[in-house]
Amino acid sequence: MARGRLITFEGGEAGGKSTQIRLLSERLRSAGMVVRELREPGGTPLGEKIRHLLKHDPDGRGMAAETELLLMNASRAELVRQSIRPALAAGEMVLCDRFYDSTTAYQAGGRGLDGAAVRSVIDFAVGDTHPDLTLWLRVPREIALQRLAGRNALTPSLDDRFEAEKEAFFERVDEAYAALAAAEPQRVRIIDANGDPGTVAERVWHEVASQL
Ligand code: TMP
Repeated sequence: MARGRLITFEGGEAGGKSTQIRLLSERLRSAGMVVRELREPGGTPLGEKIRHLLKHDPDGRGMAAETELLLMNASRAELVRQSIRPALAAGEMVLCDRFYDSTTAYQAGGRGLDGAAVRSVIDFAVGDTHPDLTLWLRVPREIALQRLAGRNALTPSLDDRFEAEKEAFFERVDEAYAALAAAEPQRVRIIDANGDPGTVAERVWHEVASQL
């Protein structure tokens, strides 16, 4: 059986990743493929507990950046072994809402942890499991802020440690994504995510169809 494919979705907050994953998944399924949708941190029972610690648990407030790095990668190590590798071996298309580029962007870029140390923790967590294609859904920060404000008006935000970060943090995150896209232009494709979901979905499809 042919090996499956791992497609990861990346970007700052409110870039529309979950909508685009759903739309791509529908399109791939209607083309007869078996699709598995996953998210990070999380995606396994243990990983979802780690996600709660990382995002919302009051005990996680003020955690050291190093702790954050290790927890993200503990969740990832589990997801890779429990779900991603078995899915790829079964020939599935795996769509993952964030993967290791988020760690480079947020823990190295945003938090300022040493890039080489971050890389070695990621390598330990994922081994030889790498995305075939990564889509960076890029939206100007002003648009992301408008979307976040709209979302929080609909569903009052659970206290989210990341969404509460300062603007300078998100500027560093975006710069780190831009550096990743420049370093690996074949794998990390930039998607203009400013627009209605159908238009963005066509841009996503164009990349997926031309790369896979
Ligand atoms: P999200 O599911 O709403 O995108 O929330 C996940 C948050 O965790 C988001 O703010 C990005 C952050 N994150 C990291 O800081 N490092 C990582 O490695 C991952 C996967 C996510």
